[in-house]
Amino acid sequence: MRRVLLGILLITGAAGTLLAADGEFSEQQAQGKVLFEARCVACHQLPEPDMLTENQWKRLLQLMQKRMQQADMPPLDEEEFAQVHAYLASQSK
Ligand code: HEC
Repeated sequence: MRRVLLGILLITGAAGTLLAADGEFSEQQAQGKVLFEARCVACHQLPEPDMLTENQWKRLLQLMQKRMQQADMPPLDEEEFAQVHAYLASQSK
């Protein structure tokens, strides 16, 4: 299980770097997009990034951190949180 998780982490990191190389996103936003797509579908469908404002996303992400802890899932670490927030902020309403 740990090895599988590590593999997923390595793959998502590489995909983010490729996206950033495209120039559409900063490195941080690109990593955030990959994490968002990988982590935020565990419990429900992927939400539309433009459904909330930047500040609303911050508060909602904090709530989702709690939901992950309650479900015995590792929450996003500080860097991942900043990456996902940066991506959502770039697409927010
Ligand atoms: C552990 C399961 C779980 C994960 C993982 C999860 N969520 Fe959620 N999410 C929930 C639950 C439960 C709700 C229902 C609202 C609540 O928290 O009471 C919800 C609701 C939402 C909503 C709807 C809020 C509304 O007002 O309609 C959005 C948007 C959302 N999540 C975004 C995310 C994002 C972004 C991520 C990834 C960082 C994420 N979720 C990961 C459990 C999860």
